[in-house]
Amino acid sequence: MKGRFITVEGGEGVGKTTQLSVIKQVLAEGGVECVMTREPGGTPRAEQIRELLLTPTQEPMPPTCELLLMFAARATHLENVIKPALERGAWVVSDRFTDATYAYQGSARGMSVADIAVLEDLVQRSLRPDLTLLLDAPVEVALERARQRNQGQQTDRFELERAGFFERVRSGYLARAAQEPQRFRVIDASRPLKDVSETLRSLLATYVAEAKRHG
Ligand code: TMP
Repeated sequence: MKGRFITVEGGEGVGKTTQLSVIKQVLAEGGVECVMTREPGGTPRAEQIRELLLTPTQEPMPPTCELLLMFAARATHLENVIKPALERGAWVVSDRFTDATYAYQGSARGMSVADIAVLEDLVQRSLRPDLTLLLDAPVEVALERARQRNQGQQTDRFELERAGFFERVRSGYLARAAQEPQRFRVIDASRPLKDVSETLRSLLATYVAEAKRHG
């Protein structure tokens, strides 16, 4: 069976971390070798770039700088983790990938889709996720969850943004999902975590069974 590339997306506070552990468990139960990783990050160099991206600083970060750093991190992550894993037949599950760039830098920051697409082709060539799980919840529900989770913790540069920014992130993600319905599964993440996990469980179990049939 060839490796599959699965990405998990959603705004702040949609419960990605909890659901990633469910995904890992379902794939292990299906007998699939799976590499769990994240963006920005996933390699030592990409994690350093993540620090640059997330740490609030006095110096404003121009959107172009933010966009290029996202793709710089992605380039090393792809070459050193994602591609080697897929080439040996492992599955890769990435906590965020390029759909996040379209949602955050594109829809929310206002960078042009055409510019993002140029960088996507440059860095990824033809590589695209096989399956994208979008955890979707109304912004006020998600931000309240994120606020409770983050109590007493440092706020990162993105978490400092206002609700309008996250509304644009959400609509950016939903627009991408509507454009590529065969790749995306949109999961209503405003339900209790247990129900979201159940939905993911059955969806992924079906996906693994089909992958085994198709090779
Ligand atoms: P998180 O995934 O741990 O929440 O943090 C990563 C942050 O980086 C999150 O706020 C979304 C943001 N991000 C982008 O803006 N563009 C991207 O391409 C990626 C991968 C993440």
